[in-house]
Amino acid sequence: MSNRVVVGMQWGDEGKGKIIDLFSKEADYIVRYQGGNNAGHTVVVGNQKFILHLIPSGILHKNKICVIGNGVVIDPKALLDEIENLRERGIKVSNKNLLISEKAHVILPYHKVFDKLREEKKGLKKIGTTRKGIGPCYTDKVARCGIRIVDLLDREIFRKKLKENLDEKNEIFRSLYKFKGFNFQQIYKEYCRYAKKIKPFARNCSVLLNKAIDKKKNILFEGAQGTLLDVDHGTYQFVTSSNSTAGGASCGTGVGPAKIDEVIGVVKAYTTRVGEGPFPTEFSPKLMSKIREKGEEFGATTGRPRRCGWFDAVLVKHATIVNGTKSIVITKLDVLDDMETLKICVAYKYKNKIYKISPANTNLLNECKPVYIKLPGWLKDTSVVSQYKNLPSKAKNYLKCLSKLVGAKIYLVSVGSERQQTFNVR
Ligand code: IMP
Repeated sequence: MSNRVVVGMQWGDEGKGKIIDLFSKEADYIVRYQGGNNAGHTVVVGNQKFILHLIPSGILHKNKICVIGNGVVIDPKALLDEIENLRERGIKVSNKNLLISEKAHVILPYHKVFDKLREEKKGLKKIGTTRKGIGPCYTDKVARCGIRIVDLLDREIFRKKLKENLDEKNEIFRSLYKFKGFNFQQIYKEYCRYAKKIKPFARNCSVLLNKAIDKKKNILFEGAQGTLLDVDHGTYQFVTSSNSTAGGASCGTGVGPAKIDEVIGVVKAYTTRVGEGPFPTEFSPKLMSKIREKGEEFGATTGRPRRCGWFDAVLVKHATIVNGTKSIVITKLDVLDDMETLKICVAYKYKNKIYKISPANTNLLNECKPVYIKLPGWLKDTSVVSQYKNLPSKAKNYLKCLSKLVGAKIYLVSVGSERQQTFNVR
């Protein structure tokens, strides 16, 4: 292997957890670089299902070092609970296999309440966030008043920064939201307890990763969410607050772009999204519930039903461009096994104008009608297929068509949640 980024090419939930788990075998370090516990990466090992929110999926492998990079926002309670849950299930977690960047920002209780109150105030215009405090924490980071892990570990700095933040935030809570705000002592004591437990894991992770690269170690960068949720390249404002595209791997870890060898995109054979925002190829309710049931399309973090739709080649092509992806992995092909006809969106139409590139104007994208091509379905069970050559020819045809339309080679195909339900495309 080499230094690889695995990135979601749609609106998240493409099945990255499983793919990262597979690639982890060849990696020495598995690194999260953005997002927080809004993510839910599902990995099935035998009859056990793990859903990882903050900790890289590589934790399920022995002798790997997992890193939470500086670009991630960390809810300390969620992190410690995740460590505890893994330990209870027999997975060893210590600072031998998990390290956290001291520059990562900390999610505080007021971030979560801001997330909720802002969403409620927006009413119908809400984003549909996971309400984990992600956006408000990144807001503070960019506003330069955030609290980092290194600040949390120093009681005096933490005291000062928390006080300054609470003075400002409580005033906003009271005047804008009629909410009484937070008590300093309560948060201070609670977070000092977390600090003690987190301290052994904290490191200068950019130095550590660059040294590892010098020693020819293999790094796997684990993207969370997906390209269309990226704050710059996604369907703004219905996005998350971080750079979930491959470029985020550099800023979110301190490993320069020239040290990254490959970007692998994970693409679902159809499209899903959770939360609000444009979705040109969204299914009608009947087809939606059929695919949702078959694909178990319910949010791994919030349990919310996912919206489902036809494959949108316009958006995935955009993702291949902004990520510089040459190879993609297609997941959940088996979910389409019962479809007599499959549609793929190849352009949009709006007021008699054809768009082959997705428009930046979110309102316009909302109004666009998809232009579809139709392909025959294969009507055979692909979940039992273990080699590309044994796929029905109509399924191969569908894959070839996707590959051509999005401009990337298909590297792997996944036809079920288990590790062995994956095969190479040659
Ligand atoms: P936030 O990241 O909680 O602020 O949510 C912003 C948007 O990103 C919402 O539409 C969420 O549903 C979506 N989102 C955040 N994390 C994920 C994820 O891991 N998978 C899919 N959607 C996500």
